[in-house]
Amino acid sequence: SDPVPFYGEHQAGIVTPAQDRLHFTAFDVTTDDRAELVELLQEWTAAAARLTQGKEAGSYGAVGGAPEAAPDDTGEALGLPASGLTLTIGFGASLFDERFGLTGRLPAQLAALPKFPGEQLDPAISGGDLCVQSCAHDPQVAVHAVRNLARIGFGRVAVRWSQLGFGRTSSTSREQVTPRNLMGFKDGTNNLKLEDSALLREQLWAAEQDGSPWMAGGAYLVTRKIRMTIETWDRTSLAEQEQIIGRNKGEGAPLGRAAEFDELDFAASGPDGQPRIGEVAHVRLAHPSFHGQARLLRRGYNFVDGSDGLGRLDAGLFFIAYQRDPRRQFVPIQLSLARADVLNEYIRHVSSGLFACPPGVRDAGDYWGRRLF
Ligand code: HEM
Repeated sequence: SDPVPFYGEHQAGIVTPAQDRLHFTAFDVTTDDRAELVELLQEWTAAAARLTQGKEAGSYGAVGGAPEAAPDDTGEALGLPASGLTLTIGFGASLFDERFGLTGRLPAQLAALPKFPGEQLDPAISGGDLCVQSCAHDPQVAVHAVRNLARIGFGRVAVRWSQLGFGRTSSTSREQVTPRNLMGFKDGTNNLKLEDSALLREQLWAAEQDGSPWMAGGAYLVTRKIRMTIETWDRTSLAEQEQIIGRNKGEGAPLGRAAEFDELDFAASGPDGQPRIGEVAHVRLAHPSFHGQARLLRRGYNFVDGSDGLGRLDAGLFFIAYQRDPRRQFVPIQLSLARADVLNEYIRHVSSGLFACPPGVRDAGDYWGRRLF
């Protein structure tokens, strides 16, 4: 597949039509030296510009350098195309500390998320000073990119946690068919999409006037690893599954309607006089009309990390959502889901991340986060 352009006003990997595979990695910065951090970001940017175009991470490559030196590319993507690779960087709140002279520059939008009812977060797979979202149509390409960034970062960053995703659970363009999550439902129908330019300006991209001018053209990222108890879900009747989501399983149509993209009708009631889409259906609780029109650009992936030793699949949704201000978007939506969503009987949030993803890199003289430093 064609390479996705690396340079531009916004980082690729946000509105880019969601690729099939994910390797998401959070890093901790291990140096205390601001100049070393800036150097790392410059080196990462240069490598990302090459990798996303299907090239090797360094100019010598896997086999072109001196035989006595470690190669500047690890080699497992030799011969593979760019495969739609995008690399998207984000800065966590913990980066904005005295080590790097960044204490005054923490965006208000990175305010710690509140504790949500029912969540069971594992700090070892949450947070991070930096994150890189690597998406591609080929998992080998996505993993290769992260591996090479980690190699370049040796001595300056250490991998804190990482997550592989094997299938997209969202569409971010009207050109894409809606995929299914591991509950078997179409996911991403009512998502913010590439084509919604006015809504993207309003709901997705940070602007100069939002308080942190260096973020203009960037977006804020929330990640949540959501474990599903799918064995329990699989014993739930079809009718109940559909009530819980608020859409039918076959078409993905809102209950009471016929086709996937039909409008949700919260006023419609069924023969029993009850609303077709119940009061606590997921799509009602999450709907913009109950949250001051707040929207998210969801870009999550299915995961199965083997089994958990108790005869259950360690599976779920690695939820990824981009937005202009989590305080007005993710937080209120997740609060109402955490309080009332019947889906909570079948899911558990086990990790959380919140990152400021800076604007795009303009050209070879620019680098990720330049306006921050
Ligand atoms: C819609 C599943 C977690 C926000 C949907 C839909 C499904 C779904 C099947 C309907 C299709 C669509 O419009 O995309 C799930 C599952 C989850 C989960 C299985 C957990 C494992 C979340 C979380 C949030 C969220 C954590 C945000 C805090 C939304 C929103 C919509 C949606 C905003 C669109 C509602 C609308 O405007 O119609 N979800 N979801 N979901 N979900 Fe989730």
